[in-house]
Amino acid sequence: MKRIYHNINLVERNSFGVRQMASTLVEVESADDLRQLFTEERPTKWYVLGAGNNTLFTKDYDGMLITPVGRGIEILDDDGERVVVRVEAGYDWDELVAWSVEQGLWGIENLSAIPSSVGAAPVQNIGAYGAEAKDAITVVEYFDTNKLEVVRLENKDCSFAYRESVFKHELKGVAIILAVELELHRTAKPNLGYGDVIKEVEARGGATLKNIRDAICAIRASKLPDPKVLGNAGSFFKNPIVGAEVAEALLKEYPEMPKYPVPNSSDKVKLAAGWLIDKAGLKGYRSGSVGVHERQALVLVNHGGATGDDVIRLSKMVCDAVKEKFGVEISPEVNIL
Ligand code: EPU
Repeated sequence: MKRIYHNINLVERNSFGVRQMASTLVEVESADDLRQLFTEERPTKWYVLGAGNNTLFTKDYDGMLITPVGRGIEILDDDGERVVVRVEAGYDWDELVAWSVEQGLWGIENLSAIPSSVGAAPVQNIGAYGAEAKDAITVVEYFDTNKLEVVRLENKDCSFAYRESVFKHELKGVAIILAVELELHRTAKPNLGYGDVIKEVEARGGATLKNIRDAICAIRASKLPDPKVLGNAGSFFKNPIVGAEVAEALLKEYPEMPKYPVPNSSDKVKLAAGWLIDKAGLKGYRSGSVGVHERQALVLVNHGGATGDDVIRLSKMVCDAVKEKFGVEISPEVNIL
């Protein structure tokens, strides 16, 4: 059953908390709802708004926002070790992580406390603490708005990469994700290689699923602002990927600069945008109602009453400052509408 809203205020539906309106917003539960919508209403301008954690509205939206709200979860297969789970797009990502931890299933515990719906997870290929959604997602089920049919796309065909997928490119404006299938495991497989994770896990008594989840929730809470308190969209910028020679030149000047390898690419290096912004002197910077978060420079925040344009102005200023100091281009990971 779909539910249609007209002239709806989006303030409660975007984690930045900007006040913009949408002419129409439709909540859909199933493929049948979408088939009916695209047969009868045939929207020409539409955008999928999940939980609104990664979208910045800079103006009122004059098309149709489509929010999948299906929250089904079912185990499709369980051979005693490998468990395949199907979860619908409207399920909250962190509730899914909590569920898998309670069931004793390994695979997504490092992705605890990421604000996202399940449907948005493959689009962004959400990632944190050395894990990415693509490591567990085996199939993405979507509604093809051109063919009006449901498609099951396997992981290998999703073009997953760092904060990237086919859903941001070839299937943008075509696919509406209905559900994902994940492969989880009963055999313990702790992934503790990133930053402070091992220290925090050991402080809690060792690498159990619950300790890892608790450690990651605590690390995130200590660095990242709660969108319910301070509007934000998590990391505003992607970590930039630069040529190895660019990184080497910067490392001569800044030997302490964090850097990460890029999988399958020996001539490229990923830099930490948060570090670059911090070293450009902008951590905690505030301009009116918007600012750079004081504990994590990668996050832009709404101190109250900011418009999307205020955030964009700050974002441009931050990009220019990083470019000027380091010669490195950084760009938003947030979708700007
Ligand atoms: N750093 C600073 N100053 C800052 C921020 C970071 O010096 O203000 C340094 C840190 O000390 C560290 C490095 O930069 O050496 C990287 O920082 P951190 O480990 O906090 O992670 P990140 O690269 O800033 C990424 C993801 C986060 C994810 C964390 C943990 C992106 C764009 N962001 O941040 O994801 O939680 O790693 O894995 O890849 C998100 O996408 O919304 C998000 C929060």
